[in-house]
Amino acid sequence: MAIAPDDVRRVRESLPLLREHFEPAASRFYDNLFSLAPEMRALFRGDMDDQGMKFMSTMAMIAEVVGDADALAGATAGLARAHARLGVAPEHFAPMGHALLVTLGETLGPDFTPEVQSAWRAAYATLSEAMIAHGAMA
Ligand code: HEM
Repeated sequence: MAIAPDDVRRVRESLPLLREHFEPAASRFYDNLFSLAPEMRALFRGDMDDQGMKFMSTMAMIAEVVGDADALAGATAGLARAHARLGVAPEHFAPMGHALLVTLGETLGPDFTPEVQSAWRAAYATLSEAMIAHGAMA
């Protein structure tokens, strides 16, 4: 389902503030994920601060194009196939989304209004669907 233009706008408007706080957000993200879903720890091998930066910067880049189906497909196709090869499955996306919303709340503080939160929820659902479809994760 296509994401509403207002949600696309709210997500994009929150990106400059998020980028100002990228490093703390990146290092909080996996702490939040592993306290919400400890069983996901075993999937990761590398340095988690580096991985946090890779995740947040890629997430922000994809979030920027989430309203444009072709650009979204272009931004997610290769990443989705790589994730399928890593053993990532559709059920892994929900805890990741939960950790993302918690991290955004910590990072954006009062700017993480209920409207911004629901916009990010919609954006994450849209980009997860694209990842799952392109990675052929069934
Ligand atoms: C939803 C959007 C997601 C984005 C934007 C994203 C982004 C990334 C990026 C940029 C990398 C690094 C790739 C590289 O080094 O070439 C990565 C690696 C990885 N991602 Fe994701 N990811 C997402 C979802 C997930 C989910 C749901 C899981 C499930 C557990 C996951 C598990 C992993 C693992 C296991 C690695 C490899 C880490 C390692 O080498 O130790 N990702 N991801």
